Amino acid sequence: MRKFKWLVGIFIGLALIAALALARGPASIKQAKADFKDSATTYAKLCADCHGADLSGGLGSSLVDGIWDIAKTTPEIETIIADGNGEVGMPGFSDQLSSDQIQNLVQFIRQQKPAQKTKAVVNVGAIDAGLVKSEVWVDGLDTPWGLVFTGPNRALITEKSGQLRQVVDGKLLAKPVMNTPEVWAGGQGGLLDVAIDPDYTDNGWVYLVYSHPLQSGSDKTMTKLVRAKIKDNSWTDEQVLFAAKPEHYIKSRAHFGSRLTFDDKGHVFFGVGDRGRKNMAQDLTRPYGKIFRLKRDGRIPKDNPFLANSKAYPAIFSYGNRNPQGLIWTDGVLWETEHGPKGGDELNVIMPGVNYGWPVISYGRNYSGTELTPYTHMDGMEQPVSQWTPSIAVCGLDVVTGDMFKDWNGYLLVGALKYKEVRLVKTDGNKYVSEQIILKGKGRVRDVSMGPDGAIYVTLNSPGQILRLTPGGTTPNNKPNNKKDDK
Ligand code: HEC
Repeated sequence: MRKFKWLVGIFIGLALIAALALARGPASIKQAKADFKDSATTYAKLCADCHGADLSGGLGSSLVDGIWDIAKTTPEIETIIADGNGEVGMPGFSDQLSSDQIQNLVQFIRQQKPAQKTKAVVNVGAIDAGLVKSEVWVDGLDTPWGLVFTGPNRALITEKSGQLRQVVDGKLLAKPVMNTPEVWAGGQGGLLDVAIDPDYTDNGWVYLVYSHPLQSGSDKTMTKLVRAKIKDNSWTDEQVLFAAKPEHYIKSRAHFGSRLTFDDKGHVFFGVGDRGRKNMAQDLTRPYGKIFRLKRDGRIPKDNPFLANSKAYPAIFSYGNRNPQGLIWTDGVLWETEHGPKGGDELNVIMPGVNYGWPVISYGRNYSGTELTPYTHMDGMEQPVSQWTPSIAVCGLDVVTGDMFKDWNGYLLVGALKYKEVRLVKTDGNKYVSEQIILKGKGRVRDVSMGPDGAIYVTLNSPGQILRLTPGGTTPNNKPNNKKDDK
């Protein structure tokens, strides 16, 4: 009997623990919301006079720009709020606020970041306005990745699984190009981008960037750049332009990049993602998380920025780039888009020798939602021109040219894989102005390309199609929305 009572005791105890655990979820969200409200009130009462009602600074510094001059870590920020710092004129509040209140206040300050960080305002309503009409141009592709036109109604298309397909007179040829390189098609790797030489009509060079297995069948892989000519539907005269050192081939399935573009000075640019080795994006002796620049025949340009460092990869042009998914050189500006983690997809202007900060600074968080880094800014690290939080999964990038979309000439086209969108980004020189969605919901957008006819071609994954976009004609004026943040 006594033993029985003991068991009942344990049972009740367990039931209580379970009930508490169940209650914790909603209760803690409620609690967090209450704390947030209290903190907002506390902030307005005690801090706003000096740090600004929107936390953007006044007599005291901005608390939302990601720059922490005095206090860097969360405990340090709590300490300065409690004890103050006479030297800089920051009063202490330990006599007015409990340590719990201070902790909540710091959480509150941290949570202000995303709202302040999102720069873009998107006129989502514009999709319904019929800015563009879309029709299927090519169908029946297996996860297409890159598209390049080789003439009117002629194109080359990469399929991630490894085939290079040809479109002739608007028809997809059944047979892929033969003898293309063996690719490692797994995870985020495979046959990636395709491009043609700016002097293609004279020299016939076709460039491919892809996930290369170290040996045939090996799962140690790295992004590789080659060029060759297509003769009798066969890949011939291949030249290797970039291959990583064998010891830098790794088993990671992630973040290969990659896109290709050319400037008007004889260079080819391409990007490689961090391969999931995020800290190595800051390491010039490693090829991960970089934008590279080569001469079109693979030679190293004499003015590449890191030639003085004998241990650095000489082809590195910029670093701290997480996973480049869009790259286009236009009018003297090299634009790049890259995937952030959870949040913080970036639009960058790539400049020689510049550090884009990954993973030291980022507007994103870990996929789990926890803090990846407290910093969005740091000396010596470049800010994105714009960034998307939450992530739209930027993919593919081109610039509008030609007569068909005259009013949009010079604007960027940004694909969004996850959001299944094409966005039109208005820029001014190398500055971001505004953006709007011009296509949504047709499929995962892998690439966007201007066609020689001036139409916009959208490469979709699921379904594996290329769409052709022409002006919709139902709006009086085809200009992107220019409204500033009206929040
Ligand atoms: C009398 C004006 C004043 C008030 C009120 C005030 N601060 Fe400050 N605070 C400052 C000044 C000045 C600095 C130093 C700014 C600098 O040079 O970075 C500072 C610094 C800080 C820092 C460190 C910033 C960094 O970059 O490391 C934090 C955090 C901070 N304040 C939070 C608060 C909070 C939270 C409150 C309200 C509870 C508050 N402050 C109220 C003036 C004030």
